[in-house]
Amino acid sequence: MSLILDGKIVAESVYARVQEEIASLPIQPKLTVVLVGEDPASQTYVKSKANRCEKLGLQSETIRLPATVLENELYSVLETLNEDVGVHGILVQLPLPNHLSKYEVARRISPVKDVDGLHPENAGLLLQGRPRFAPCTPAGVIEMLDFYKIPIEGRHAVVIGRSEIVGKPAAQLLLQRNATVTVCHSRTVATESLTALADILVVAMGKPESVDRTWVKPGATVIDVGIHRVGGKLVGDVHTESVHEVASAISPVPGGVGPMTIAMLMQNLVRAARLQYPPSN
Ligand code: GUN
Repeated sequence: MSLILDGKIVAESVYARVQEEIASLPIQPKLTVVLVGEDPASQTYVKSKANRCEKLGLQSETIRLPATVLENELYSVLETLNEDVGVHGILVQLPLPNHLSKYEVARRISPVKDVDGLHPENAGLLLQGRPRFAPCTPAGVIEMLDFYKIPIEGRHAVVIGRSEIVGKPAAQLLLQRNATVTVCHSRTVATESLTALADILVVAMGKPESVDRTWVKPGATVIDVGIHRVGGKLVGDVHTESVHEVASAISPVPGGVGPMTIAMLMQNLVRAARLQYPPSN
């Protein structure tokens, strides 16, 4: 049976650290979230972000735009936020409607306010091994491994998934911590034969309960980044019951990586406020 990596406990440790940093700042950091359209899951996430800001004594604001907003209208909202010295962090909730490019949108957020870490400058800094803002979910994965003292250096980490927001940055963060990293994706041949070599397996493939015990090396640490509602129940990308028998540690869904995303967002926000203080204009 494996150790359960409890994201709520790890997130609380991050909040304690963030709270100390907030207390040492002469300003109250502010997060502005831009929500385009009415995707129900996005609305829930956005609410959770605002609630957490309130709990920590941070300012937050949500700007709601219709799903039909023109790209130039969205860019002009972002420009106003970039210039507002009272706003320290900007996040455009994903996914966006099809007529908007997440790449072009990320490019229009000031890189020092880009708490999602998706601006090409921040992605580039991460690639160079000197991250400014790492994307929150993969940063949360590393935080979990550190909290539970799971060594990374010299170990073989396999990441399943190559998204901009999870798979790619997770691979970069693991590499920066001196893991040997393999990235698997939808076109990988015999993924199971590669995952079976992993000391640390990060699963962000977006398919419910797809990784079972046959994919996992005995004693491995398995981090499940997936979240899906199946028959009214939340499940991850990993078939937890099966993998539980072989892994030495596993993050559950819900209550694993999920709570880490907002915790790391708060950390990025405080970092952003520190970077921007004192304001130069
Ligand atoms: N949608 C799901 N996760 C995220 C995230 O971490 N950031 C943004 N901007 N949108 C998301």
